[in-house]
Amino acid sequence: MSRSRVAVLGAGLIGRSWTALFLAAGHDVAIYDPADNVEDLVREGIDSAWPMLQRLGLTTEERPTATLTFYADPSKAVKGAAFIQESVPERIGIKRALYALIEPAVASDAIVASSASGLTLSELQSGWQDASRLVLGHPFNPPHLIPLVEVMGNERTAPGVVDTARAFYESVGKVTIEVKREMPGHVANRLQAALWREAIHLVNEGVASVADVDTAIASGPGLRWAVMGPTTLFHLGGDEEGLQTFCDRYTDSFNRWWDDLGDPRLDAETTERLVQGVADAGLAGRVDELSEVRDERLAEVIAATHPRLRRT
Ligand SMILES: NC(=O)c1ccc[n+]([C@@H]2O[C@H](COP(=O)([O-])OP(=O)(O)OC[C@H]3O[C@@H](n4cnc5c(N)ncnc54)[C@H](O)[C@@H]3O)[C@@H](O)[C@H]2O)c1
Repeated sequence: MSRSRVAVLGAGLIGRSWTALFLAAGHDVAIYDPADNVEDLVREGIDSAWPMLQRLGLTTEERPTATLTFYADPSKAVKGAAFIQESVPERIGIKRALYALIEPAVASDAIVASSASGLTLSELQSGWQDASRLVLGHPFNPPHLIPLVEVMGNERTAPGVVDTARAFYESVGKVTIEVKREMPGHVANRLQAALWREAIHLVNEGVASVADVDTAIASGPGLRWAVMGPTTLFHLGGDEEGLQTFCDRYTDSFNRWWDDLGDPRLDAETTERLVQGVADAGLAGRVDELSEVRDERLAEVIAATHPRLRRT
């Protein structure tokens, strides 16, 4: 999409990050968020995201040149917007009330995407008279840094809307996947949850410490997963016949491991054990410092693994 107007509804943690990304792509951004200090928070968010957007090649500008406008009325913010990203709190009542306010003002060819993590598309659609241009556009935090967006439509979605939404996201530097069926947690959060479940089980069972389980991922398969997904990697793990050989060779092993995987709950006892494990690893009280380390390393990994994101 060439330069156009994008509306951001809800400018908290996620909305601010989307705003920086849309500005970096050269889109004028219209914001609606009822918080008193929203302008300051958004400008601070853009200032802190901008060096990373430059570093990732998502902008060559020293500072944003596209316009940023704040509205007190959501219907004015969406007027004339080609794409609307909704990132208001994850409460269905708040999202529905906002949809009712904006629906009459949304252009007939605009797309509305919700960042919702936990709510399903059909729950979101219930807030609309005509939900044909509403999709799920679920980012990973922070959206200006992590490339993935999970996009979903369903039988109520107009033909082509999912493809157009994906094309828009890709034009601003994202990588998209399509979620074809409604499931709590969509795709990526379910995968995270599945892995964390087993990580916790291993700690609960005394197989390894919190620190060592984390190292087992970060210095092992996690490095490969940043480059290729698990099935592709196993395709490379057999001989030249690829995945067929791998599956033939390791059927018994995987079935045995799957039968043995744990099913812990995140209860008070488990939480205490994990928190203690983090403290034992010397990580307590260092959240800001470690977040900087994470983002610094992530930038290197993203630049290495996603060179096609570079728009410049
Ligand atoms: N935090 C994450 O890691 C994450 C990741 C992916 C998706 N999401 C999703 O993004 C959405 C926003 O999450 P967040 O973490 O940014 O929340 P947040 O609480 O940081 O931000 C929400 C913002 O919405 C504003 N708001 C409240 N009522 C509003 C209304 N009626 N209209 C417009 N704005 C309103 C608030 O003032 C606040 O600035 C949620 O649906 C969440 O599930 C969050």
